Amino acid sequence: MSTSSPKLAVVGAGAVGSSLAYACQIRGSVQQIALYDIDTPKVEAEAKDLIHGTQFTPVSQLVGSSDITVVADADVVVITAGAKQKPGQTRLDLADANVAILHAMLPALVEQAPDAVYVLVTNPCDVLTWAAQHITGLPRGRVISSGTLLDTSRLRRLVAEVAGVHQSNVHALMLGEHGDSEFPVWSSATIGQTPLRDWLVDGEPVFTDAVLEDLSASVVQAAYEVIQGKGATNYAIGLAGARLVEAIITDQRTVLPLSSVLDDYRGVSDVALSVPSVVGRGGVSEVLEVPMSQHERTRFQASAEQVRAACDRFAD
Ligand code: 2OP
Repeated sequence: MSTSSPKLAVVGAGAVGSSLAYACQIRGSVQQIALYDIDTPKVEAEAKDLIHGTQFTPVSQLVGSSDITVVADADVVVITAGAKQKPGQTRLDLADANVAILHAMLPALVEQAPDAVYVLVTNPCDVLTWAAQHITGLPRGRVISSGTLLDTSRLRRLVAEVAGVHQSNVHALMLGEHGDSEFPVWSSATIGQTPLRDWLVDGEPVFTDAVLEDLSASVVQAAYEVIQGKGATNYAIGLAGARLVEAIITDQRTVLPLSSVLDDYRGVSDVALSVPSVVGRGGVSEVLEVPMSQHERTRFQASAEQVRAACDRFAD
């Protein structure tokens, strides 16, 4: 980390990149934010719009440019640039276009910000994390993705609604691909200290198999519904990204479900998937085993196979 105030570079000034910068600005996640995009009028306009609000936020420096040197010496580089999902497309459908963009962009970014933690937000984020780690050769923990951090937030909100408690008291994880093969780890989910299946509302268990199935499907469908209605998701991923940036910048060593290239995690290697990860200044320093039922282990393996198949055609 540089000695000056921490710096975030956001690559891509579209809806996701701008919302992520805005979330960081209003949360005061970091002191310096640089927005980079090849579209000069767009990036300059987005930066101006953000800058005009700095009086009301804790962020002191905000700049936007199509000159790549704007990202120089960033501590965290969040990549949001790339083709976005259209209604009817899956995240994996974007792999070809967005891996090509990474090949074109990453060497110059790493030249400018060689010590940064790289966070892939562009989809399919697990495939792109794997590709970016291979392209850059950076340590696995420094090329990571927000992965299922957002899906976990979606899951916790839905569980909290059914249980009638605050979301912060729900301890439940979505793991695997940030995509259609992701799955909830119900077997270890709790509300406070109470196992999820033992939670009663009016004396009755509410988390029946049918309810759990519905909640899981709702999380997987969540982004599709938003994309159908407004063409993209941007606010929630912006907030999830800001949360991750804070964990890195302030060296929190917090445990979040994040994607990085795994090495013999439940037998899975050389695939990027979300698992509980200790994240701080250097990126992901450790991935943690989470107890899983036999069914969940099978789903984890299936998710790994799905992502591996998408990566295979980019292997050299
Ligand atoms: C999301 O889950 C589309 O990956 C994006 O909101």
